[in-house]
Amino acid sequence: MRTCVYPGSFDPITSGHLDIISRIVDMFDRVLVTVLNNSTKLSFFSVEEKLDFLRKSTAGYSNVVAGYHDGLLVDFAKANSARFIVRGLRAISDFELELQMASLNKKLYPSAEMVFLMTSTDYSFVSSKMVREIGSLGGNLQTLVPDAILEDVTGRLRVI
Ligand code: PNS
Repeated sequence: MRTCVYPGSFDPITSGHLDIISRIVDMFDRVLVTVLNNSTKLSFFSVEEKLDFLRKSTAGYSNVVAGYHDGLLVDFAKANSARFIVRGLRAISDFELELQMASLNKKLYPSAEMVFLMTSTDYSFVSSKMVREIGSLGGNLQTLVPDAILEDVTGRLRVI
């Protein structure tokens, strides 16, 4: 059984994240889409909201399991027998931090393999931060977040 973790802040999940998920469901038997804490970011959405958005967005994929881990990514991966860690790369600006995280994760979990997918060009400009900004200023989030959560995310950001 090939299991991967697709980790992130998912604050909230975007169409770019869902694009990556739609491509890895065929590569792995089990895809653990996992919300983790990024100590450099303050979350807007609660863990419960993030998980609800992840579950609604990935409802069509039977091998996706959404979850949360309050700790190290590698500890979650080891505990779930996941040897593969997937990250999406949008632009060269993502590369430096990803290289650093990949190298440290590999030191902590030597048998792990980091798998990088280039985000489809349609979504290379999409980020959770921009989704929050556009949504809170009344902009249209269609195409930026998965259809299944468009109403929920739009409604939640409008009240800021
Ligand atoms: O969506 P993001 O914010 O780019 O995801 C970054 C994330 C959450 C995957 C990263 O910060 C992380 O792995 N956090 C968990 C704690 C951890 O393992 N830190 C060591 C990273 S080398």
